[in-house]
Amino acid sequence: MKRVLTYGTFDLLHRGHINLLKHCKHLGNYLIVGLSTDEFNTYKNKTACYSYKHRKYILEAIKYVDEVIAEDCWEQKIDDVIKYNIDLFVMGDDWKGKFDFLIPYCEVKYVPRTIGISTTEIKTKIENNLSNIK
Ligand code: CTP
Repeated sequence: MKRVLTYGTFDLLHRGHINLLKHCKHLGNYLIVGLSTDEFNTYKNKTACYSYKHRKYILEAIKYVDEVIAEDCWEQKIDDVIKYNIDLFVMGDDWKGKFDFLIPYCEVKYVPRTIGISTTEIKTKIENNLSNIK
């Protein structure tokens, strides 16, 4: 049983998120997603359209996701890896190198992001009243 952990905000779920979650799940057997709380987003100066409760509800309905836990702060990752018996930590390659401090605790992998889509881009398109969301 290979246990995989990833983190994110996963607001306005899109195909880049699904590709990432599918990739994570296929690299192991059990996928845990650390979902940033509303308080942590505020700390990061990030505003999500959906609340933590609703983002969690959506993520839990995805067949690749086995468990959702709260991400409250940057510093919890080592503790989470130990607590949840994680074998592999995965993030999109926009985070390349940022989590190498986890290498003594588990395998760390950065996977390619899906090109051409992000929550920020969707928000910008909606704000600009464009209808060409792919
Ligand atoms: N991700 C991805 N491909 C994308 C967008 C996101 O692989 N096109 C991955 C990120 O690398 C991260 C996870 O999905 O591992 C969650 O990312 P998140 O920041 O929640 O999504 P974004 O769409 O990048 O949101 P934002 O624009 O607010 O940063």
